[in-house]
Amino acid sequence: MLCLQNVCKIYDRGRVTALRSVDLHVARGEYLSVTGASGSGKTTLMQIMGCLLRPTSGEYRLEGVDVGALDEGARTALRAKKLGFVFQNFRLLPRMNVVENVALPLTFQGLPRAEREERAVDALCMVGLGNRLRHDPSTLSGGQQQRVAIARALCAGPDVLLADEPTGNLDPAAAAEVLRLFDRLHESGHTIVLITHDREAAARAERTIRIENGRIVR
Ligand SMILES: Nc1ncnc2c1ncn2[C@@H]1O[C@H](COP(=O)(O)OP(=O)(O)OP(=O)(O)O)[C@@H](O)[C@H]1O
Ligand SMILES: [Mg+2]
Repeated sequence: MLCLQNVCKIYDRGRVTALRSVDLHVARGEYLSVTGASGSGKTTLMQIMGCLLRPTSGEYRLEGVDVGALDEGARTALRAKKLGFVFQNFRLLPRMNVVENVALPLTFQGLPRAEREERAVDALCMVGLGNRLRHDPSTLSGGQQQRVAIARALCAGPDVLLADEPTGNLDPAAAAEVLRLFDRLHESGHTIVLITHDREAAARAERTIRIENGRIVR
């Protein structure tokens, strides 16, 4: 599904090496967690897997497609079709209600409004928020806001869910809820890459890798 070969990432005109010869395969349906100290290269790895950042050298293939060979537009389209993102700080838009937030990525797919809304409502019911559809995100708890963000990541039907510290801003009960949701998504066939500092969270995945100073150590 995801395949990195000999991927290096150098920032700042050579001053910072964030990833060093990373080889990584993630199989379809796999649940992988990525741990490592602050600054070890986890977010850089996720941004490359998410087609948000190009490797300085090496190759990244997403379902066989050589992402490095694509232009910006093609990469954006691939990202919208295949990938869903969840971040530590939710990144919901104010002045848009919960359904509107979740439906937003679908506007780029040219779907009619009614269908966008229907899909967003389905995704919100799936994460247990069918009773908060017209609320403003700021009126929800952190755990609820993160579940809205997960619904948004899921509503376009991505193959892979990439989550960067999704429980980092949540209390233990809300974090546990989000992790249970990931377990369910995995059971229903989603491919998940979870970046986390939390050992317990990491242990929920089928496989855990650790990054130290830009290298994968197992
Ligand atoms: N845009 C950038 N320009 C220059 N250096 C960067 C940039 N982004 C990240 N870095 C550097 O690359 C290294 C890896 O950063 P990265 O954000 O991938 O770490 P991380 O493992 O996600 O850390 P954290 O756990 O704190 O989120 C760090 O040394 C960081 O300072
Ligand atoms: Mg990070």
